[in-house]
Amino acid sequence: MGSHHDVCNGQKPHVVCVPYPAQGHINPLLKVAKLLHARGFHVTFVNTIFNHNRLLRSRGPNALDGLPSFRFESIPDGLPETGTDVDVTQSIPALCVSTMKYCLTPFKDLLRRINTGDDVPPVSCIVADGCMTFTLDAAEELGVPEVLLWTTSACAFMAYLHFYLFIEKGLTPFKDESYLTNEYLETVIDWIPSMKNLKLKDIPSFIRTTNPDDSMLKFAIRETERAKRASAVILNTFDDLDHDIIGSMQSILPPVYSVGPLHLLENREIEEGSEMGRMGSNLWKEETECLDWLDTKTRNSVVYVNFGSIAVMSAKQLEEVAWGLAGSEKEFLWVIRPDLVAGEAAVVPPEFLTETADRRMLASWCPQEKVLSHPAIGGFLTHNGWNSTLESLSGGVPMVCWPFFADQQTNCKFCCDEWEVGMEIGGDVTREEVEAVIRELMDGEKGKKMREKAEEWRRLAEEATEHKHGSSVVNFETVVKVLLGQ
Ligand code: UDX
Repeated sequence: MGSHHDVCNGQKPHVVCVPYPAQGHINPLLKVAKLLHARGFHVTFVNTIFNHNRLLRSRGPNALDGLPSFRFESIPDGLPETGTDVDVTQSIPALCVSTMKYCLTPFKDLLRRINTGDDVPPVSCIVADGCMTFTLDAAEELGVPEVLLWTTSACAFMAYLHFYLFIEKGLTPFKDESYLTNEYLETVIDWIPSMKNLKLKDIPSFIRTTNPDDSMLKFAIRETERAKRASAVILNTFDDLDHDIIGSMQSILPPVYSVGPLHLLENREIEEGSEMGRMGSNLWKEETECLDWLDTKTRNSVVYVNFGSIAVMSAKQLEEVAWGLAGSEKEFLWVIRPDLVAGEAAVVPPEFLTETADRRMLASWCPQEKVLSHPAIGGFLTHNGWNSTLESLSGGVPMVCWPFFADQQTNCKFCCDEWEVGMEIGGDVTREEVEAVIRELMDGEKGKKMREKAEEWRRLAEEATEHKHGSSVVNFETVVKVLLGQ
């Protein structure tokens, strides 16, 4: 059985990477894995069988062949089999419970199999998603360091770390259903260190429950508590953006390092056309035609609309977005995921298609990082998932924020009030509201200010990742040392 001491005996260090099985989590961890590979690590990347099969469908049958020193493995996610050929987003609460309960045993079996084979170096460290802390039990048993990647924003993670206090203070569970929508959500929350001017509605949405046994509330508390056992915690952000919050985290967690934006670090270090560069993690097939279309557009002229991999809306909301976009008279790229509408196919009105034919591009999945760094994109209507938010900031793109759930409420609040790059709409929006906010975003005084601010953040994100002395570059080197047990 190997231990990290073997690293010193001339063997390659071997990192096992375990993402939480959702798009917004696999993407950043794959980048960490590639960056470690570039520093000489042997990598085993462990998807769930469900996502492994999806990746084979979206990226082609050879997509997970890997390299001799970068291998893909898979373990069951613990959910009942739903068939292996469905490309739908799995239930997040169900996955949280099932991975927590059922993944440790197959994961330990996998580690044993790796360590008893003689074709790869013994496992010397683990990097897992912050929501997959069952892996800590395996790391401790093996005696190897483990680093946790929290893929949410620092502000949302800080709130999750204090969920237990919301219970202690009697703020959640809510008294009854009426509290989910009434002025209770305006309750001031001023006791989370480094988080000013918050209201209850800005806290990650899992707090909004009347059920004392709510599985997501319990999961968030459990996983953040267990994070204390990691060797270090890494966040996909950069010091200039989240300096104070990260500072406050240091007293409640193992060392916390900002190592983002990870896609910029990846761009800097991994050549695009290389085998590693081509290795990707999109669960839906990417439609790249939109990039050619964007190439024909002028600077800052196109509105980009995308709600990430999980959010679902009603057919009515979809229709209001459609007519709002039409009314704005702007050119737009709208990505409509096949499962975007709850319970039915996501279909836009045919009249809308006719009316906007000469100024729109629709797709069902796009290469978003490239889209958001394209000069033609002038604004982003987003659900504020953390990856989307960070990719937008890194592209200098201001946002219209329409948060749905989880950390998105907190990200929205910070976009609007702290980073000054966002305007909020949301919930039951009308076409008139969508139209007005898009016009303001693209042409208005507020939009102009937000674009200038976003440009500042873009520059700072680049500084953090592009130079040898950039904060995220330096932090990443420190994390490598932690993984090497140094
Ligand atoms: C969710 C949460 O909302 C997010 O805040 C959390 O940190 C991770 O899980 P998701 O809702 O999918 O993720 O949104 P987001 O975090 O924005 O991640 C989506 C990812 O998919 C991004 O990296 C984005 O670039 C990519 N994407 C999305 C595409 O490549 N193409 C698309 O068309 C849409």
